[in-house]
Formats: sequence, structure tokens, C-alpha cells
Amino acid sequence: MAFLSDALGRIKPSATIAVTDKARALKAAGVDVIGLGAGEPDFDTPENIKEAAVKAIRDGKTKYTAVDGIPELKQAIAMKFKRENHVDYTPSEISVGAGGKQVLYNALMATLNPGDEVIIPAPYWVSYPDMVALAGGTPVPLAATMEAGFKIAPAALEQAITPKTKWLIFNSPSNPSGAAYTRAEIRALADVLLKHPQVWVMTDDMYEHLVYDDFVFSTLVEVEPALKERTLTVNGVSKAYAMTGWRIGYAGGPTALIKAMATIQSQSTSNPSSISQWAAVEALTGPQDFIPKHAEIFRKRRDLVVSMLNQAAGIVCPSPQGAFYVYPSCKGAIGKTTPHGKRLATDDDFVTALLEEEGVAVVQGSAFGLGPFFRVSYATATELLEDACRRIQRFCGNLR
Ligand SMILES: Cc1ncc(COP(=O)(O)O)c(C=O)c1O
Repeated sequence: MAFLSDALGRIKPSATIAVTDKARALKAAGVDVIGLGAGEPDFDTPENIKEAAVKAIRDGKTKYTAVDGIPELKQAIAMKFKRENHVDYTPSEISVGAGGKQVLYNALMATLNPGDEVIIPAPYWVSYPDMVALAGGTPVPLAATMEAGFKIAPAALEQAITPKTKWLIFNSPSNPSGAAYTRAEIRALADVLLKHPQVWVMTDDMYEHLVYDDFVFSTLVEVEPALKERTLTVNGVSKAYAMTGWRIGYAGGPTALIKAMATIQSQSTSNPSSISQWAAVEALTGPQDFIPKHAEIFRKRRDLVVSMLNQAAGIVCPSPQGAFYVYPSCKGAIGKTTPHGKRLATDDDFVTALLEEEGVAVVQGSAFGLGPFFRVSYATATELLEDACRRIQRFCGNLR
């Protein structure tokens, strides 16, 4: 009898965490490595949020809480949905978990049966297909192209839908491409969804606040309220408030789904950290002025990285609307050989050789379901980004 479960055989470890760990290990061994693999802001959590957590500890808010969130946080989330997305969710329509990741996982575990299909536009966040597979469903990648700005067309969505489709996972701005859908583009996808009442939508709005050049973020339920009854609107404090380590994510959705998600959470992790929940209340209700300031810093870094990568031989780097990633094509480097004699047959070879020969850690596009590309996270100090891009230019310039 096998010791390890069949479920484990359906998934693999997160490629982005693997690259980050590898870069960290090389650095610890004294190698000069610049890590552009991690998906987290390099900013510190704002002081007012830290203070709220300290106060929560001092006030003894250190016990178990309601499974899917304290009432104060649910209220703050309801106000956030109203204020920023013009959508009404009551506290009973809100779920809080240990990160957006747990919220998405709960929803998939609570709804998927064998044979259920989940449409996932590619390039996608690495965890979506594995979470779907772990929950027993079938991931159905739907490839977008660089030429289409890494966005899916309504006709392609229509074609991908079958009677077995249970969910569409929709992520804008996107990790890994940074692509963000305009209101009109969301409207066109909503029109397709309205024709298929069996399809539910998980919109992952984690990068909502990181959009540039006057781009206006929209979420599906705001654009088409009729889809509210079959949409889970997922968000969190990790990226916007530089709170990745605090582990707080949340979602708004129909009460029956929210209850089912709480049942899954009650038998796995129970409530998210009480202290982090109080910190998240302060994040959502306190001053918001640092958010556009952070976004402006990210925009400048995006412009720098896009410009420098487009000067690297064989690299084509589109300028995305949001998040803190770019997703350049390395097609022009494929088939070439490095000065150390390594032939680059895939984007996997490209990122491995780049790390070994120039000490720059990025993630291969194949991990996100669309190659030959690679993902660069520019949530890193500007000087490091400049250095890393110079190294990428040198690496590409030396390929023969
Ligand atoms: C698209 C997307 N969704 C969800 C998450 C999960 O965020 P967290 O679990 O930190 O809230 C991430 C984190 O990288 C992400 O990139």
C-alpha cells in the first residue's frame, strides 16, 4: 500500500517558491544572487497597522475567533467592497482566511467533484491548476497570447465552456503577466458568462491597487451585478498593504458558498490569526494614502525594467497595466548556447542558466502555463533591478 496519497501525486511544489528558495540558498552560500522570483512587495508593513497588531496583543485579543473572521473585520471588508468596488456584501456573504490562497483553496475544496472543469486563462498564477487538481477537479488552461496582451477573447471563453465547466478563475491584474482587463473587456466576457448559468466565477482581485497610467480597475460584479449570485470576489491585504507574512485574505460571495467554505476551514486551520485580523481591520479602515505612493514607485520600476529588458538581445517585453511583474518572451534566445556551453532548448533552460551564470533568479514561463517566457518580479529595490537587468542584457548578448 502506498504511503503517500493519490492527491499528492496530482500536484507539484510551487515553482515560484522553489526559485525563491534556490536563490536564498545560493545567497546564504555566498553567491552574488539577485532574486526577482518572489511575489511580494519589498516595502515594510505601515506603522499604524503594526501598532494595531501590538495593541491587539496587549488587549488580549489572542484567543480563537469565529472561524471565518471577527465581525469587526467582516464589517471593514464590507465597507471596502462598497467604497472601492461599489458592491454590497453583507457580513454573512464574507469569508476571511489565512491569505487569499486559503480562501481560493476553501472555495475549490467546497465545490469541486471529479470531472468538474475549471477554466484557467494562461499564463496563470502557479497555484490555480494545482489547487484545482488537489480538490479533485480538472484544470482547463485557456492560452492567451502576447499579441493579445495576455488576455483571453470572449469567443475563446465561449469555446472553452462545456456542460462540465464549474468555475472560471479570472485574475486581473494578472500574476504573472501584469495584464489588466478594462471595464469594456470585462463586460464582453460577462456577456458570454450570462449565457452559461452553470459557470461560476472566482475573480482574484489581489492586485487591484497596483495599476498604472490612469488605468481604472473594475471587478466583475461591479460591471455585471447579475453575476453576483455566482461569483466569488477574492481579495486580500498581502499585496496592497505589504502584509504577505500576516496571512489575511478574504472574499465576498453567496451565503451558501461562504458557509461551505467556513466548514472546510473549520476542519483544517480554524480561524486566521486573531492578531493579523485586527491588523487587517486597521489596514482597511486606516489611512490609505501610501497605496498610490507605492503604486507610483512600482510604475517607475516597471518602466525601467521594460525599457532595459527590451534592450536585451532576443527579449521582447510588453509593458503591462498592473501588478508588479513583467512577462517577457525569451523566444529569441531559444536554440542558442551560453558562454559556459549550455544549449537553451526551453525557458526552463534559460532561467537555470541565467541563475547559474549571472546570478539572477527569475521564474520560467512554463510554470505559468505559457512559454517560452519568464516572469520578472520588480518588487525589489531600483538599484538591484538595474543591476539585474544589466546582467540579463549581458547574458543575452553573450548567447551564440
Ligand atoms: C494572483 C494571486 N492570487 C492570490 C495570491 C495569494 O495571496 P495571499 O495568500 O498572500 O493573500 C497571490 C500571491 O502571490 C497571487 O499572486
